Amino acid sequence: MERKRAHALAQRPMKMKTTHSSEEILDITRQRESSAANTFRTTDSPPVFTSGQGAWLATTTGERYLDLVCGSATSNLGHGHPAHRAAVVRALDTGIIHTGTRLPSAFRVELYERLASILPARLACFQLVNSGAEAVEAAIKVAQYVTGRQRLLSFAGGYHGRTLGALSVTHGARIREPFSTLDRIVDFLPYPCAADSTGSSHDTQACLAALDARLAELADAGDPPAALIVEAVQGVGGVIAPPPAFLAGLQLRCRAHGVLLVADEIWSGFGRCGEWFSFQRSGIEPDLVVMGKALSAGLPLSAVAGPSDILKAWPPGMHTSTFQGNPLSCAMAVATIDTIRTEGLLNRAKNTIEVLLRRRLAPLDELRTVREVRVVGAQAAIELVDEDGVPDADRVGRLQRRCLDERLLVYGGGRHGNALILVPPLVIDEADLGSALERIAALVGDRVASRRQGK
Ligand SMILES: Cc1ncc(COP(=O)(O)O)c(C=O)c1O
Repeated sequence: MERKRAHALAQRPMKMKTTHSSEEILDITRQRESSAANTFRTTDSPPVFTSGQGAWLATTTGERYLDLVCGSATSNLGHGHPAHRAAVVRALDTGIIHTGTRLPSAFRVELYERLASILPARLACFQLVNSGAEAVEAAIKVAQYVTGRQRLLSFAGGYHGRTLGALSVTHGARIREPFSTLDRIVDFLPYPCAADSTGSSHDTQACLAALDARLAELADAGDPPAALIVEAVQGVGGVIAPPPAFLAGLQLRCRAHGVLLVADEIWSGFGRCGEWFSFQRSGIEPDLVVMGKALSAGLPLSAVAGPSDILKAWPPGMHTSTFQGNPLSCAMAVATIDTIRTEGLLNRAKNTIEVLLRRRLAPLDELRTVREVRVVGAQAAIELVDEDGVPDADRVGRLQRRCLDERLLVYGGGRHGNALILVPPLVIDEADLGSALERIAALVGDRVASRRQGK
């Protein structure tokens, strides 16, 4: 009965009762929010949404926007999913928001069982934390603890978060260099990509040879790495999927040198790449997997998965955080996993959304100002260059604003900030996505889109 009611409520988008008008919300945010927050990154006047349903977000005045950002790969089930609502209601109905880190919880146990059911059998032990960056921190710490080593390997184009430890293995110099990160113990190695617009080109063998050379140097210096962290598909870095042989090569070398292989699935997990986790596309088995974002659809939760001989090797309290594994977040995560299963969303990402993205965006590859279109599962990157072939990050900003005028939310990323990135919810209606792609293609092709989307 209760479940039915929750479902019925979630069927219709609920308008939030706001205490402030949209203008007041923008004004107060401008005055009071740290400038490091991203709110005004795309435009001075972003839309203020007060309701959401499926792939759509709506403002107080009823303007509807199609969400092709998904809260940075978080809302894989779309907005207002009845299963999420029911899960939160169930958790709230217990009257317990959180009991801290020192007591067990039924919600955590349900999540452990679900996670174990979608991961390789060896990775059946978990450390829950709150954000993607914090999961990366926990993975780095446990790797250093169990190996007794300090050094870390990461890759060009990799993004792993912005707390100091996670930032240390994040490649982007603009966001890393102003801070006192762990540079002295981190090496960035080349990641396979076709020759990009700056002329750097790395094939699998060249990348593995660079890794071999660095591993040999570090072994000679008596300073072998504790861990190598990799995105099996780089997301924010521009939707780049390296050949499976690269990932297999990493695994081989990690095992040979006693280095823990950490797969960062924070962006690419939970169906984004058409599998539960993107490393499954290449058949490798990492030692540690970090996940977050879509796991709990926006409630703070992330996790490190690993074998018990690693995650039970450190003593209680070595890594803990007050909110870790709170019931609401765990209930959301259980509902996410169950819904991906029951709605066949892995299959949908691979066989419906990926196919549509490829079909509609492929013609853009012909344009002089598009260096490459890449589609991996339910995400796409359109890498933009100017007439001289130089990465054109400014145009990404302009296109994002044009898309906003068309009531489409799109993302920007890529190694040089020059990729327009599309990250639709896995539940998006095919007609809605098809029509949006048509208009995005028109904008990228500099043709004036004639229609405005809205239902
Ligand atoms: C691959 C990857 N790792 C880590 C992070 C950091 O996650 P969070 O922003 O939750 O700290 C992100 C965020 O975009 C990511 O894409």
